[in-house]
Amino acid sequence: MGLENQVALVTGAASDVGYAYVKCLLLNKVKVLLCDINLDGCQAIEHQFLKEFQNINIFSTKCDVTNEDEFENAFKTCIKYFGRLDIVINNAGVFDNSIERQWSATVNINYGGVVRGTLLAIKYMGIPNGGSGGTVIQTSSLWAFSDSYHCSPMYLSTKKYLMEFTKSFGKKNNFSLHGVKIITLCPEFTAINCVRLVCKNETLQKNEHRVAEVEDLKNIQQSPKIQKTDNIGNALITILQHGKTGETWIVENNKPLRLVE
Ligand SMILES: NC(=O)c1ccc[n+]([C@@H]2O[C@H](COP(=O)([O-])OP(=O)(O)OC[C@H]3O[C@@H](n4cnc5c(N)ncnc54)[C@H](O)[C@@H]3O)[C@@H](O)[C@H]2O)c1
Repeated sequence: MGLENQVALVTGAASDVGYAYVKCLLLNKVKVLLCDINLDGCQAIEHQFLKEFQNINIFSTKCDVTNEDEFENAFKTCIKYFGRLDIVINNAGVFDNSIERQWSATVNINYGGVVRGTLLAIKYMGIPNGGSGGTVIQTSSLWAFSDSYHCSPMYLSTKKYLMEFTKSFGKKNNFSLHGVKIITLCPEFTAINCVRLVCKNETLQKNEHRVAEVEDLKNIQQSPKIQKTDNIGNALITILQHGKTGETWIVENNKPLRLVE
């Protein structure tokens, strides 16, 4: 299925995974609205792609996925600017090890943001509401399948919840009511985010006690074992073209994209 001239709204677009999604969507001639609390980050990506690629259509807006009105305004902006909406990528997510400090924000962004984004997608793309149908992709994580990883229970449980949400809300009988497919993508760890942050952080680099840590992270980034974000972007395109509603897919480094049975 060709994606040419479809329109996508991507949340958490200023992130590394968001960047990869946006890049692959643009390369497949999809028009993209970048949404993030970090508007400067979105606009920097927008300017980079406008320089790098010809004949692309891209726009950015500030959007906090925990704020109902702001999130809905992003949908309205998208339809006003591009004239339609076909794909919603619920990608905004946070990782924090401190349950005490961050549990409610983690639930509100990682899970609440996905539920809000899915309901808005049905409101704006659903056939009974005047839309043409479409696809929603949730970004979970391969860690959601891990029984042994215990240092961030809130992250893990929100990522597990959203797979259950997709499985249930994405059932075929629901799809037949509104024509919006709901699919989850679970990427394996992609090192660049934390590595990039640490490598950019001069204070950290100058702290002699952490030199070894920085060096380790730099090495991890270069390791062929670590998944590159383009792998995730390409997986997204395959799923948009061939995925069915309610499905969960896993993308890992150097392995074929696989469907969770
Ligand atoms: N990087 C990985 O290894 C990896 C692996 C599996 C899944 N994921 C998932 O991919 C997604 C992106 O991950 P990343 O590592 O690129 O993240 P990141 O930390 O680089 O970026 C997260 C993005 O979300 C934005 N954001 C935070 N709160 C927001 C809110 N309330 N509303 C809107 N935007 C908000 C941030 O500004 C940032 O741009 C997340 O859902 C993450 O769980 C990442």
